[in-house]
This record gives sequence, C-alpha cells and structure tokens, in this order.
Amino acid sequence: MRSSMNARCSSSQGQTPGGGAARMWDGDPQRTYAEEIETGSMVLLETLRLYSPVVLIARRVERDITMANINIPKDTGLIIPITIIHGDNKIWGADANEFNPLRFENGISKAVAHPNAFLSFSIGPRVCIG
Ligand code: HEM
Repeated sequence: MRSSMNARCSSSQGQTPGGGAARMWDGDPQRTYAEEIETGSMVLLETLRLYSPVVLIARRVERDITMANINIPKDTGLIIPITIIHGDNKIWGADANEFNPLRFENGISKAVAHPNAFLSFSIGPRVCIG
C-alpha cells in the first residue's frame, strides 16, 4: 500500500507543463493536474486524521438530553476526543494508526464506517468555516 502511494507522490516533483520550476507535474501526459490535486487531498486528509491540529472539541450541554441511552443533565461538560476517534480501529479499520492516504481514495464517506467520524474541522452548525 505504501509503495503504491509513494509511486503516486514521488512523480510530483518534475516540471510544470510550461517548463517552470518543479511544482506538481512530472510531464507524464497520463497524469493530470486533477489527479495530482486528488493525491494531495488524500495526503492532506490523512495528515489531518492522524495528526489533527485540534485534538478535542469541548461542549456544554444546553439542556437535559439522552444520547446513546445515557442521560446527560443540563450544564454537563462534554469532551469530544478527536485524536482518539481518529485512531479507533472499530471506525477506521485495523490500520487506523497507520499513515495511509489511499484510505481516502473514494472520499471520506468510503474511508470510514461512520459518516461523522472525520472531525478535524468539527461538524454541524459550528463546523470550521476555514
Ligand atoms: C487545518 C486548518 C484548520 C483546522 C484543523 C480547523 C479546525 C477547526 C475546528 C475543529 C473547529 C471547531 C471548534 C469548536 O467548535 O470547538 C473550527 C472552527 C472554526 N474555524 Fe477552523 N480550522 C482550520 C482552519 C481555519 C481557517 C483557515 C479559518 C478562517 C479563515 C478557520 C475559521 C474557523 C472559525 C471562524 C470557526 C468557528 C466556527 C463557529 O463556531 O461557528 N479555521 N476550526
């Protein structure tokens, strides 16, 4: 898996089609900028998953709620541990703790068992706008 990713990335150090300094394209006409951007996105997502700069999200419960059969009273503080969720084998598979950008080959939803498990930018109404 790693060597296939290396092959995909290592050719990203050639010349631009215009002959400019090395940036994203190796001159192989079979490889398009779109493919290069796709590869870069996968590496970026996997970096954010495994080394999320935001390691947790904190919330205060606004009113009494029940979540996953647990009663949580108003004003309880909740910690959503992003780093732990991102390394959970049950959600990401046996290789959860390995750096494998190819897991994102078909997008986030296909990489993970739960649609909201990728939390580097949070989710919901307070999702990152950046
Ligand atoms: C890798 C880069 C970034 C990461 C990992 C990141 C992550 C996050 C996370 C996890 C939250 C939710 C925090 C919470 O609710 O407690 C958040 C919120 C936010 N982010 Fe980012 N962020 C990034 C870049 C940016 C950039 C570049 C901007 C602005 C240009 C930005 C603007 C915001 C704002 C305004 C919120 C608050 C949204 C709200 O509460 O309604 N972020 N970000």
